[in-house]
Amino acid sequence: MGCNFPYYQSKERDFYLLHGDSMELLRQFDHQFDMVFADPPYFLSNDGLSIQSGKIVSVNKGDWDKSGGFDFINDFNRQWLTLVRDKMKDNATIWISGSMHNIFSLGQILNELGFKILNVVTWEKTNPPPNFSCRYFTYSTELIIWARKSDKVPHYYNYSLMKQLNGDKQMRDVWRLPAIAPWEKSCGKHPTQKPLSVLTRLILASTRPGAWILDPFAGSSTTGIAANLANRKFLGIDQDIEFLNISKNRRLEIENPQKADFFRRKIAGFIDNSQLNEFLESEKLKTDIKVILGFCRAKDLKKLKSEKVFYFHAVESENNVKDFPVGLFDANRLILYSGGRSKPTVLTGLHGEIKTIDLKHKTLIQGKEDSDTEFYYEIVLDEVFNENDGLKFALDAKLLFDKSDAKNIKLFQQYLPALTTWEKVLNALKP
Ligand SMILES: C[S@@+](CC[C@H](N)C(=O)[O-])C[C@H]1O[C@@H](n2cnc3c(N)ncnc32)[C@H](O)[C@@H]1O
Repeated sequence: MGCNFPYYQSKERDFYLLHGDSMELLRQFDHQFDMVFADPPYFLSNDGLSIQSGKIVSVNKGDWDKSGGFDFINDFNRQWLTLVRDKMKDNATIWISGSMHNIFSLGQILNELGFKILNVVTWEKTNPPPNFSCRYFTYSTELIIWARKSDKVPHYYNYSLMKQLNGDKQMRDVWRLPAIAPWEKSCGKHPTQKPLSVLTRLILASTRPGAWILDPFAGSSTTGIAANLANRKFLGIDQDIEFLNISKNRRLEIENPQKADFFRRKIAGFIDNSQLNEFLESEKLKTDIKVILGFCRAKDLKKLKSEKVFYFHAVESENNVKDFPVGLFDANRLILYSGGRSKPTVLTGLHGEIKTIDLKHKTLIQGKEDSDTEFYYEIVLDEVFNENDGLKFALDAKLLFDKSDAKNIKLFQQYLPALTTWEKVLNALKP
């Protein structure tokens, strides 16, 4: 991650905690995230009173939540949003939870900095605490702004899953989910802890497996726990060591697979208590898809768009076809990349599902009879190439293959077809 020592790092390197002021720490490391969730101070600690579990309590959360007026709130939001924007991939999105006290400031600053607001989700608590003063309606909602970094670059949205969770009707921007429950507080209390159900829904809606998620105001790291339970990765920052301890203990708690399974079954917002596990399994299978990366010269791309068949030169040595990438014949998907010499290696956006792969002699291929190359691999796709703008990115080859996979790394460097997985391609997407 390239920053100074984390306060905690999980064995699996999928959960990092940094201790300190986000305004400083965000400047000190270099990493691009797929998604951000932020639950910044609401500036609510105004010495008022509220009711919690039947008892009258102060609304004060801590010094970090005391307001210094409108200008202070605007300056604070401008500062952290500028720093966080810099840490987002161009196709990344940000979710910001707020209340009427800071949401207008957040909306204004998001627009000012060039974000594009996609939705303002209303989380309606199914079990809100009663209103103590009896002079207002009961506060039963929180707002969560969803915005993308850039007006121009498309974002990811798992439309079909969201529809499925809403009984096969389009998911709306009002989410009826319960407030925090006692089983979520097994490692200690944070005064403004968010429920796992809210975080799980927004993570599944806006990220793919393996995505990196940042939370600059992590608190008890609900974001990180939801991320890891759903096979995503997390970096959280908080200035309070007590909250980082709760975070670390929550992460250690889910090292136990039974505990993790218990949480996945308890998380609300699913049709039944096994739906989340089933969905995560199906997501895993999808990302384990084997992918052939096929090289194509930039000038041939246009012609290929209407094609269903793609040829690779087979590697030859003294007229024998040498062993090609291991498992090439098991591959399910073909993705074309381009570039070379002084140009960067890029995914072209062209991809297709593989129907058949055959090794063929040139005499059996129309138009290639006179070629210097004797043998070709012929890949026939289910349909003509699809073009997806989300797959048009510069590639970091180090992220495409395991370090130990010397063979495919070499093939890729020589612009020959190399074998990887869909999960690795998604991880390697570098805007
Ligand atoms: C609203 S709480 C987040 C709660 C969290 N979503 C959860 O589920 O536990 C905000 C957190 O931001 C932290 N915080 C406030 N200002 C900060 C700053 N400048 N740098 C780092 N952490 C900060 C506070 O310590 C607090 O834990």
